[in-house]
Amino acid sequence: MKTTSSILRVLVVALIGYLFLNWIGTTKETSAFEERYWLWGLYGFVIFVHISGEICIGALQRILYQTLSPESKKRYDEKVALKKANQFSWIKNTYKAALGSKAIDEEFDIILDHNYDGIRELDNKLPPWWVYGFYGTILFAIVYLVRFEVLNEYNQIEEYEIAVAEAKIEVDKWKKTAKNLVDASTVKLLTETSDLEAGRSIFTTNCAVCHKADGGGGIGSNLTDQYWVLGGGIKNVFNTISEGGRSGKGMIAWKNELEPLERAQVASYVLSFQGSTPAEPKDAEGELWVDSE
Ligand code: HEC
Repeated sequence: MKTTSSILRVLVVALIGYLFLNWIGTTKETSAFEERYWLWGLYGFVIFVHISGEICIGALQRILYQTLSPESKKRYDEKVALKKANQFSWIKNTYKAALGSKAIDEEFDIILDHNYDGIRELDNKLPPWWVYGFYGTILFAIVYLVRFEVLNEYNQIEEYEIAVAEAKIEVDKWKKTAKNLVDASTVKLLTETSDLEAGRSIFTTNCAVCHKADGGGGIGSNLTDQYWVLGGGIKNVFNTISEGGRSGKGMIAWKNELEPLERAQVASYVLSFQGSTPAEPKDAEGELWVDSE
C-alpha cells in the first residue's frame, strides 16, 4: 500500500505539472511551446527528484523500522493496519451515499408485503445521483426555455455564424504566426505596411551596401528595373535571397542570416522598387520579367 500511495502521489504531481505546463503553452500565442525544452527538462527534473524522494523516504522508514524495539514495532504495525483499513474511506462513503441503496442486511426493512408467486419487491429509494441528475435536467429545461423560447437570445443560424466568425479570428491569428513557415514555393507578396517597413529596415542594414538604398545597384544588380538575371516575381526573388546569386558574383545566401518571414519581407520590399527611378541606376541585366500571377 505504501508503494501504491507513493506512485499515486508521483502521478498526481506529474499530472498537475503537465496540465500547468500545457496551460502556459496555450496562453502563449507565438513560438511553439514544444520548443521550450528547458521547461520540459525542469519538469522532468522535478518529477525525478520527487520519485527519488519517495524512494529515499521509503528506504529510510524501513531502516528506522529495524531499529525499533519489538513493542514499538507492534504498535507501529497496528497503526499502519488501522490506517490501511481507513484508507479511501471517504471515497467509499461518498460512493455509498451517491448510490443510496440499503445494505443487504437492512433490506428486510424495505421489502414490500406482496408476493407474486415468490417474486417480491424491494422498495429501494431512487439513487440520489439519479434524482439530482433528474432535477438538473428540469432546471436545464427551464433555463433553456426562457433563454431561447421566451427571450430568443440567439438561434442556431446565429450560433453558427458566431462560431464561424470566431474560427476566422483564430485562423487569422494562426496565419500571422505561420508567416514564418513560408518557403520559395508558398511565399506571397506582402503588402501590409508593417511588413514593408520591416523589409525596408532589413534592406538598409544588409543589402543597401551593394544594391544602394534606392535599389539602383552598385556591386549588386539594379533592383528597380524589370530585368532580372535570376528571375523576377516574389517566388524567384525570395529564392535568390535565400539561396544567393551565381557563384563568384558576391550575392550570398541569406537563409542562415534571415528568418523566412524576414526574407519574405525584404523580397516584398525589393519588389516595391519596381518602376521607381533611382538616382544612379545601374544598367539593366538579365531578361525582362513579366508577372504572370
Ligand atoms: C556583397 C554585396 C551584396 C549584398 C550585401 C547583397 N547583394 Fe544582392 N546581389 C549582389 C550581386 C553581386 C548580385 C548579382 C548576382 C548574380 O548575378 O548572380 C545580386 C543579386 C541580387 C538579386 C537578384 C537580381 C537579379 O537580377 O536577379 C536580388 C533580388 C538581390 N540581390 C537582393 C538582395 C537582398 C534582398 C540583399 C540583402 C538581404 C542583398 N541582395 C544583399 C550583391 C549583394
